[in-house]
Amino acid sequence: MDLQQLGRERYPGATWQDIAVADGGDLPAVLRAQSNPPQDLRVIPFERYTSPGFFDLEIERMWKRVWQFACREEHLRDVGDYYVYDLARLSVVIVRAESGLKAYRNSCRHRGTKLKPSNSDGWSASLRCPFHAWEWSLEGELVSRPCDWEFPHLPAGDAGLREVRVDSWNGFVFINFSAEGPGLFDYLEVLPDHFARWDLTGWYVHTHVRKHLPANWKLSISRLRPRAQLSNSTFGAPCARFRTEKPSLTASSPAASATPTPRARSAWPTAQTRFPS
Ligand code: FES
Repeated sequence: MDLQQLGRERYPGATWQDIAVADGGDLPAVLRAQSNPPQDLRVIPFERYTSPGFFDLEIERMWKRVWQFACREEHLRDVGDYYVYDLARLSVVIVRAESGLKAYRNSCRHRGTKLKPSNSDGWSASLRCPFHAWEWSLEGELVSRPCDWEFPHLPAGDAGLREVRVDSWNGFVFINFSAEGPGLFDYLEVLPDHFARWDLTGWYVHTHVRKHLPANWKLSISRLRPRAQLSNSTFGAPCARFRTEKPSLTASSPAASATPTPRARSAWPTAQTRFPS
């Protein structure tokens, strides 16, 4: 199947690639490539967007099985740095341990209390439950438990934190709740190849724009994904402010001598958004 031809048939006008090529210059091959897989044009039942039962299925069969972007490596720069990633009813605490990145269910092995609050990050020498003070090392091993004699049925060696798969690429940290399925690099398919020219490691989040939309997640994504939204809607402005910055490499720049440091999530500047409701 000729994907280029398929795209032409679907849309005979000038593509982004046509315009970029016409602009001249050294356009990398990866930016000339087009992908136009056939679309399933069946009408999607309304309930897919409103049914709590279908939402539960999405969590069980999709969100628990896919790699998903959780944070940036700069959030986990030093041993002890942690970052909590929440998705629907799920919560993961990702830490920088001596052995590297580790991710755990953000849930105490005793009674399920959250080890770290949702939407938090910071530094912690260990992971200690705020309820009855069970404590785990950053490697996930139970290291301390008050009234240890009361738990003969759960030896300390069996009470480690539940691990979640974690990996990183290009400075982005991903997690996957499932132990099954492809590794991150297989899952990313062409992305590492396509971004070979653009090394984003060492960059950091300068401004984080967040907006809670009163809508099903699929509707939000499909509403904001078309590139038309980027050029002519209210989405363009906040999108332009979502950036990562790298230290200036220009010797004469006043910023060249300064070592920029990532900000804690609580210190991120926020930006007002005007998404249509
Ligand atoms: S619930 Fe965490 S120690 Fe009891």
